[in-house]
Amino acid sequence: MEVVSSPGRLNIIGDHTDYAGGLSLACAIEQKLQLSFLRQPNVVELRTNYVEGSAKFSLDNLDEQFIASLQPTWIRRVAAVGYLLTQRNIPIAGFSGSLTSQIPVGSGLSSSAAIALASCLAFAPDIDITDAVKVAQQSEWLAAGVRCGLLDQLSIAYGRKDHALLIDFSVESTQQIPVSENIEFWIIDSQIERSLADSAYDDRRQCIEQVAAQLGPLPNLSVDELQMLKPLEKQRARHVVTECARVKAAAGALFSGDHRGLGALMNESHESLRSDFEVSLPALDQLVEAARQIPGVLGARITGAGFGGCCVALCERGAIKDPESLSGKGWLSRPADGLQLLTANE
Ligand code: GLA
Repeated sequence: MEVVSSPGRLNIIGDHTDYAGGLSLACAIEQKLQLSFLRQPNVVELRTNYVEGSAKFSLDNLDEQFIASLQPTWIRRVAAVGYLLTQRNIPIAGFSGSLTSQIPVGSGLSSSAAIALASCLAFAPDIDITDAVKVAQQSEWLAAGVRCGLLDQLSIAYGRKDHALLIDFSVESTQQIPVSENIEFWIIDSQIERSLADSAYDDRRQCIEQVAAQLGPLPNLSVDELQMLKPLEKQRARHVVTECARVKAAAGALFSGDHRGLGALMNESHESLRSDFEVSLPALDQLVEAARQIPGVLGARITGAGFGGCCVALCERGAIKDPESLSGKGWLSRPADGLQLLTANE
């Protein structure tokens, strides 16, 4: 039996910057998914404990039409990974096994990227991790129609225990920054399902791409250089430009142990995502505001795409006794190790 461990990811700061070639500060988290499997020729069979039903498909004739016809829908991500690997001439084998997960679905903690990356290792254990990251991203485009960036995949692939990752999407590089044992992250699940998130996500992305076509890469621009843009474009671009500057400052603050400074930057990030990028919701603003009132909370913001899902609060360790207290669902987490093939008994 072989086991792949694939964690969720938490974005500490830097949202909607990845597809703009910007910066994020993120980590893999302790909440993870495990794929336990035995290899078998040509067929994938999977059971799960957390989404509907078991699933089975053959690797013969994998194509886009076949993938779109598969039920239940979560298995499309796995099949898309198999298809995209063969498109890259990476040899794949079938497998039979089970998926168990502690990562809530639809909460902005990247359960789908975790499935895709785990599938990459199950199909092709010797895959180069840079290929796995790209295939996992493209599987999201293909199976869910969301043109996501690389935040989720890079965080899960390269996450390391007790470290945050400063990701520079312009060159797809990651840098590890130690996270002091005096702090932890409180993940507060709003339990609001993301509605219309995908089309709204693509709207934002298109807008940022239009600005980049006009003015060049956004992370190289200053707010002054956005003046000639139309009002809505200016507003969206201002979020990306200022968010990248905040990530840079946040990485410095984390490195030097200035946790209050990091918390303040997270607060500013929320404000920018709320007012300029408009991906928050009143209920999320209220959660963030309530979290900030709690002694030992140093800053709070929404995390991930927005429109629902989770908020993240930076806390002094031990300050939060009941992580469920604010919304009924929540976890305390520290940065954890990323994607791993744990056992390989032939
Ligand atoms: C989703 C996407 C990521 C990223 C975030 C917002 O999680 O999958 O690529 O764009 O939203 O930062």
